[in-house]
Amino acid sequence: MGKVKRIGILTAGGDSPGLNAAIRGVGKTALGYYGMDIIGFRDGFRGIVEDRRLKLDKSTLAGILTVGGTILGTSRDKPHRMLIDGRTRDMTATIKENYKKLDLDALVCLGGGGTQKSALHLSDAGLNIVTLPKTIDNDVAMTDYTFGFATALDIATDAIDRLHSTAHSHHRIIVAEIMGHRAGWLTLGAGIAGGADVILIPEIPYNVEKIAEAIKRRSGRGTNFSIVAVAEGAMSLEDARAFKLVENKRERARTLHDKKEAKAELATLESRHTGNTLRLAKQLEELTHLESRVTILGYVQRGGTPSPADRLLASRLGAACADLIHENVFGVMVAARGDGTEPVPLEKVAGKRKIVPPDHPWVEAARKVGTCLGD
Ligand code: F6P
Repeated sequence: MGKVKRIGILTAGGDSPGLNAAIRGVGKTALGYYGMDIIGFRDGFRGIVEDRRLKLDKSTLAGILTVGGTILGTSRDKPHRMLIDGRTRDMTATIKENYKKLDLDALVCLGGGGTQKSALHLSDAGLNIVTLPKTIDNDVAMTDYTFGFATALDIATDAIDRLHSTAHSHHRIIVAEIMGHRAGWLTLGAGIAGGADVILIPEIPYNVEKIAEAIKRRSGRGTNFSIVAVAEGAMSLEDARAFKLVENKRERARTLHDKKEAKAELATLESRHTGNTLRLAKQLEELTHLESRVTILGYVQRGGTPSPADRLLASRLGAACADLIHENVFGVMVAARGDGTEPVPLEKVAGKRKIVPPDHPWVEAARKVGTCLGD
């Protein structure tokens, strides 16, 4: 392949701070440094299916470095399973047609785990794809960090800091729910940085009695308040066992009937898990006789101005992405590696999730400073 002239870019999955900084990083380098043309697609993969575009030029790329969200809009649509007129359809062929019609030489996809899978699918279908790792969960495989994480870490830590004074004043347990269904990086990081007394993450199932004992030990020392940082996906040992059984069943399922059954069982377990943080707070109140309150941080963690760390990460990944396209390197994710970047084949990223290993240095540090991890 010769000189790259025209590239497309889209943002997919949940939004996160730093997306605009990344779009600017790719765009400015592609336009200004390499003289390429760049087209933005609106609302994730749906934008390329429906050919809804935003021409990215000097003026659209100006003033967006510090802006939260994504100027392109986003969605959780998948190329091969998209809801079109009430029906789920495989839109890969349409994406290929539009890519060709628009004379694109490459497509840049900014997103988390789901996006990396979709990107591999399009790469296998013959498109020239490069991806960037984005998510506040920091759970994309093969990269040191994802952009969005640093900002969410600042926000969640600030919340824990603020909850301390009110918990202290009222002698209460405050349970702060932090985003992360499958990975606990954000809860663990913010919990350590904010000095939470208890940190509960999906990777370490908890025993509520042990948490209550830790809180009572604090009370025994005259400290009548506690902050519990809990990830959305944290669960008790019993629940974790039930999930494991169903997940194993789903992995082993061979017939369509067995697959459907396992999927339905998983959905039931997931819906039962909704409201777990409220239940946990109630259980702790009963076991410790301390009043408890819940704060669900929710989408505040994804909104607003990206932190300097995220702007820096997104800008350098974006610039490296344009370099790779210029060098005709495709089918890769631009990973953050130390101060530099590294292209990683999409096959090594897609379908893998980077979760917190139980012996990770952050876990060990939390234990050493006396934090209860619920186990
Ligand atoms: O993947 C990022 C994330 O913010 C998770 O932490 C959270 O569980 C999920 O997205 C929420 O998804 P949605 O935006 O679809 O509500």
